[in-house]
Amino acid sequence: MNASEHAIDTIHQEHRSLGMVLHTLQALLNKVAANHAVADFGLFAAALYYIDCFPERCHHPREEEHLFKAMHLRSAESAAVLDRLQADHGRSALTLSHLHRALVHYQGGAPDGLEHFRAAVDGYAADMREHMACEEALMQHAQTVLTGDDWARIAAAFAANDDPLFGRNQRLAFTRLYQRIMMMAPRKMKSALRAAESLPYPPL
Ligand SMILES: [Fe+2]
Ligand SMILES: [Fe+2]
Repeated sequence: MNASEHAIDTIHQEHRSLGMVLHTLQALLNKVAANHAVADFGLFAAALYYIDCFPERCHHPREEEHLFKAMHLRSAESAAVLDRLQADHGRSALTLSHLHRALVHYQGGAPDGLEHFRAAVDGYAADMREHMACEEALMQHAQTVLTGDDWARIAAAFAANDDPLFGRNQRLAFTRLYQRIMMMAPRKMKSALRAAESLPYPPL
């Protein structure tokens, strides 16, 4: 793999992981709403923790600092898309704080807790899927305008295995957290999740 393929593959895999966590959360909430499963607040909390730590504190900042910055330099025509993607990042942090409040409201026993939490998750998931699709298109364009050195810097940034929150084994910690969330899904959902995991991107 060359540097551009490596960088794109890493970002792509990170999008897939976030997509699968959101899919798991939504699928379980749909089952709870239909009385086909009980609420698993441990899984809900683990999924929000993953979203908070991985895309919000690690993936988005690296995109802004490396991919978006390089595209600003090389592609004036991408300015509007880059502004939109950057604004999405700012908004998703606010939406996530709303998700946390909605989970506490639900776990506290509010009668409308499930309805509010589910609506908040669905809204965040829809925004993120649109955002990731836009970034996937941006990366296609980036292949035609970025240089080999640009891609080498982006690939190195995304391969970096340290993070203030997770320390030196950040990637391993995220992988373990992701696997834990998948393991926590109800047994009846697991085969559907495994099938979704193996589909080509975008899977959900
Ligand atoms: Fe992003
Ligand atoms: Fe992204």
